Amino acid sequence: MKNIQNITNDLLYIGSSDRKLSFFEAVYPVVDGVSYNSYLLLDEKTVLFDTVDKHCAEQFFENLKAGLEGKNLDYFIINHLEPDHSALIKKVIEKYPSVKLVCNAKTKQMLFQFFEFDFDIEQNFEIVKEGDSIKTGQHELSFVMAPMVHWPEVMVTYDKTDKILFSADAFGSFGALNGNIFDNETELDLNEYRRYYTNIVGKYGAQVNALLNKAANLEIKMVCPLHGVILKENISKLISLYSKWANYEPEIKSVLISYASVYGGTQNAAEILATKLAQKGIKNIKMHDVSMVHHSFILAQAFKYSHIVLASPTYNNCIFVKMEQFINEIISHNLQNRTFAIVENGSWAPNCANTIKTSLENLKGSKFIEEKMTIKSTLKANQEEELENLANAIVEDIKKGA
Ligand SMILES: Cc1cc2nc3c(=O)[nH]c(=O)nc-3n(C[C@H](O)[C@H](O)[C@H](O)COP(=O)(O)O)c2cc1C
Ligand SMILES: [Fe+2]
Ligand SMILES: [Fe+2]
Repeated sequence: MKNIQNITNDLLYIGSSDRKLSFFEAVYPVVDGVSYNSYLLLDEKTVLFDTVDKHCAEQFFENLKAGLEGKNLDYFIINHLEPDHSALIKKVIEKYPSVKLVCNAKTKQMLFQFFEFDFDIEQNFEIVKEGDSIKTGQHELSFVMAPMVHWPEVMVTYDKTDKILFSADAFGSFGALNGNIFDNETELDLNEYRRYYTNIVGKYGAQVNALLNKAANLEIKMVCPLHGVILKENISKLISLYSKWANYEPEIKSVLISYASVYGGTQNAAEILATKLAQKGIKNIKMHDVSMVHHSFILAQAFKYSHIVLASPTYNNCIFVKMEQFINEIISHNLQNRTFAIVENGSWAPNCANTIKTSLENLKGSKFIEEKMTIKSTLKANQEEELENLANAIVEDIKKGA
């Protein structure tokens, strides 16, 4: 049966949620599922905005058919060609062979990488570029290119008439929809917005900034993203968070402690360091065991915090494997302007601190607390002062920047 909701009197939500998926993009755990949003505008001409993942095909086609109420599908705007939104493109064309495919030249080129057509679709294309628009009756839809906000072909569509931005992957979140499709009907989980942004597009801050600058010239009353709820009340809040994330500015001046520990020695040091920092007035300290928490959650916190402590055992003369993985995530997502403090542990040749530092020092704006700390297996009472000095150095650095 159809599962459709009205967004405005002529715009319908026809997307679906996936609650069986374990890992989005084969990497990110999605315990609360994920939604694939698709929209249908019923103007004099009908317009479909993107499709859904293949797992949700049945519901999608039921919704599309019911939404059209017997009308033909005139336009199909492809904002993003990643398969979580594009999987059903070929089937849509098969069902509505006269549909106009509105996309940019890059999208057209990529489309043939994903699909082989046994019929000619050349005449279906209506290729658009930055600033172009189409009139569908009451509505005028204009196109804004957003390369690398997530993929190179991404564009967003702005409905000039109703002031709605169809934002592709931007302003999305993990998490299935739960009946309520608007942000003023449900509580936003900003942790999941952050985890989605940082992991999916965190690397492309410059390109996100370019889109934010273009969006600043538009009056936006509603944002319809490809994942998560439709935004009405939280638009400016999310734009300001996106701006922070895109500029790699921390949200708070506080300490994220990421440690790894096989036998407990490094953990003990990390816990005591946290206590000392708290006693010195640092609030909202966050601690993770990197072996126990998926790196996507820790990376999101790394984008939030100004100071990051990395505490790791030495492991085959290198960094502990899970810590190394987390550090690689920091590097591959281009995190900048962070201050790191390093604690190393080892039973015969503790030496991973330098490797950690060398890995991170090429990131733009990286700073290091000079007091690095070395533990041999377990923290000894005579190292209390050293740990105290490390805590003081971190606190001073936080206060200095405040
Ligand atoms: C697979 C493996 C490889 C290790 N390689 C090294 C090493 O190369 N150098 C070293 O000093 N210690 C090495 N260690 C020992 C740990 O770094 C050391 O015991 C450390 O104190 C463990 O800290 P923890 O109590 O927080 O787990 C290794 C341990 C394991 C399990
Ligand atoms: Fe995407
Ligand atoms: Fe997506």
